[in-house]
Amino acid sequence: MERFEVTGGAPLSGEIKISGAKNEALKVIPFAVLVKGAFVIKNIPDIADIRTQLEIFKDLGGKYEFSGNILHLDGANVNKSNLGGGLATKLRASIVYAGVLLSRFKSVTIPFPGGCAIGRRPIDTHMQAFLDLGAKQIKENDNYILSFKNFKSKSISLLEQSVTATENVLMFLSGFDDEFVVKNCAIEPEVDDLVRIINNAGAKIKKNGRTFTIRGNCELRLSEEEIIPDRIEAFSYLVAFIVTGGNGTITNFPSRHMKHPLQVLKKCKANFQISQNKLEVFENDFLDPFRIKTGPYPDFPTDMQSPMSLIAAKAQGKSQIKETMFENRLGYITQLKKMGLQARIKNRQTVEIVGGNKLKGAEIDSLDLRSGITLILAAMMASGKSTINNAQIIDRGYENIVGKLTKIGALIKRND
Ligand code: EPZ
Repeated sequence: MERFEVTGGAPLSGEIKISGAKNEALKVIPFAVLVKGAFVIKNIPDIADIRTQLEIFKDLGGKYEFSGNILHLDGANVNKSNLGGGLATKLRASIVYAGVLLSRFKSVTIPFPGGCAIGRRPIDTHMQAFLDLGAKQIKENDNYILSFKNFKSKSISLLEQSVTATENVLMFLSGFDDEFVVKNCAIEPEVDDLVRIINNAGAKIKKNGRTFTIRGNCELRLSEEEIIPDRIEAFSYLVAFIVTGGNGTITNFPSRHMKHPLQVLKKCKANFQISQNKLEVFENDFLDPFRIKTGPYPDFPTDMQSPMSLIAAKAQGKSQIKETMFENRLGYITQLKKMGLQARIKNRQTVEIVGGNKLKGAEIDSLDLRSGITLILAAMMASGKSTINNAQIIDRGYENIVGKLTKIGALIKRND
């Protein structure tokens, strides 16, 4: 099992560049199943989840070349629509292969979803949407088999404002020469930019509030596209500078996708300024406490919730974090308490944190991707040495984490 060894206490300084958005890149890859011919996507982060999503694409018959964050995709030879067993069960985002495979082959096999550390991760919203549109579903072994002949309805509403369910349904419909309406959709920036790419391929998707109207196209084509920077990674590094009392510059910073979390940090008196796609962080000594509640965009993002626990640890006073999206996303608090965090979990969704006490290095376990990065940042702001186990979890979503942090002065190394 890989782990990180971190020596805390060094304020960060220097410049760091944000990589492409994991949660957009993971959906553009399956979209290649519907695009006629090869195309290029730039700014793709080289992280473990992308490598897994590409392995699934190859297993289905797709071809790709990936180097230097540039990805060549060609879905012409995709000849399978079975996601059952194997790689797809390792990666939640594999679920968005369902829509494009169902659209192209009118049948798809999907494994029952695996839960993960943050919660059950159901796919009922996905399945109900396809059934409402006219798909038929049977259960066989540990799989769902969906088949599609004709539309039962061309206007549906999602059960939840689910990001991957929205993307799954929009990509499914983009392959049909017809008009559709989908209500109660997620409107995260990654969804918007995926829609921009689908429209560049020849569909006509318009957003009005949480309702998308879609005019699909059975001849979707692309040449070259670029995805947006990763707002979640950007927030993690901004918090890293703030909690270590460092100063520096973050480039490729997507501030227009982060209005709410940046407002929260400003209210805590965090000291930074933004000019175009660059953010400069200055010395941060005193922070005020805060109260946040996570929710679908544009509310406070659930993926940015765990780093906020460290702002709370540094703030003078009592802060509160309420997690509403996933039933088990506060597990990392137990790990931080091993480092001396003064925290009280009020119920499964709410934690109160009293700041102002210096954290101390400890051996801790990363439970999921986003809490993993939080533990690394905690070790950097703590006194002494820490060991963070399950390093491979963090590699799923953070490109070159040791290289990027070392470049701005963190004392971190990876051990097998
Ligand atoms: C996406 O997951 C992201 N993953 C998650 O990021 C992110 O936390 C989440 O959206 C919320 O923003 C990817 O895009 C690959 P949801 P997704 O469906 O789509 C409920 C990360 O670390 N729900 O928007 O799986 C669900 O329980 C990951 O990068 C259903 O009830 O999340 C939750 O309460 C973690 N039924 C809410 O909707 C369903 O069928 C939001 O989930 C689907 C979801």
